[in-house]
Amino acid sequence: MWDRRHVISIDDFSREDIEDVLKNTAKMDEYLEKGNVPELMKGKILATLFFEPSTRTRLSFEAAMQRLGGTVIGFSDPSATSIKKKETTADTVRMAAAYADVIAMRHPYPGAAKLAAQVSSVPILNGGDGSNQHPTQTLLDLYTIKKELGTLDGIKIAMVGDLKYGRTVHSLCTALKLFDATFKFISPEQLRMPDTYKRGLTYEETTELDVSDADVVYVTRIQAERFPDPAEYEKLKGFYVINKKVVSTMKEKSIIMHPLPRVDEIHYEVDSDPRAKYFKQAYYGVPTRMALIAMVMGAI
Ligand code: NCD
Repeated sequence: MWDRRHVISIDDFSREDIEDVLKNTAKMDEYLEKGNVPELMKGKILATLFFEPSTRTRLSFEAAMQRLGGTVIGFSDPSATSIKKKETTADTVRMAAAYADVIAMRHPYPGAAKLAAQVSSVPILNGGDGSNQHPTQTLLDLYTIKKELGTLDGIKIAMVGDLKYGRTVHSLCTALKLFDATFKFISPEQLRMPDTYKRGLTYEETTELDVSDADVVYVTRIQAERFPDPAEYEKLKGFYVINKKVVSTMKEKSIIMHPLPRVDEIHYEVDSDPRAKYFKQAYYGVPTRMALIAMVMGAI
């Protein structure tokens, strides 16, 4: 049995931990496909505390809990809670831990999930803390790559877009390092991958959108909400667009991923290309989060 209580950072995962999650995700994926999901979370409650906007992460956590027979409480608009009366994040988490058996949380401040784990009596699943980490997204990203390409070992991944503020690419780098991936970081100068995530990686770095040698092209949104100066965002928006022409240069057996939401960085004309996997990727959030919930609750 897996004895991990919290999922805060992908740094806490060994290769074996990741493989365990992927194995359990495959089981959940199969249960969903066959329509015979065991009620592993019957009588249990998930609290979703979303201090920042979300569509996929929150809804897939909620769907995951309900598929497993559990129920959900929570908020997605903190201004309708006592946070508006200046209650602290720590006290909000303490209360949710008193009402629920497991908590999924998203917060704008890096480190908020770690703080939540320190005060919570129930497992915390980090659904994104500022520009820092998004470990459950990484696990569903890894599941997508494994399922679509058959392996995680030695892949070449091109990460495109906002590599400075994008938490999904930060977590994904750390995880893929364990599988000897080769990285190509494609970003505007101002949005380069921070040094801390590049340490120990085999990588090249460029501003040029050449994805012809990649097995995975992982596209990200320019994170407008993290820019201290909105004028800087205005200069960089629309910097890269993956369109049919770009896709025509890609290898036949390669995939295009994006954590979504997309703004304008992948043209709609790409959606019908067989290599476009971003909607499937978003769907895999459900089996991945089912596996994680069941694992931290000691149910599998
Ligand atoms: C991402 C996030 O919130 O970090 N979305 C997600 O969880 N699927 C990516 C983004 O917002 O650009």
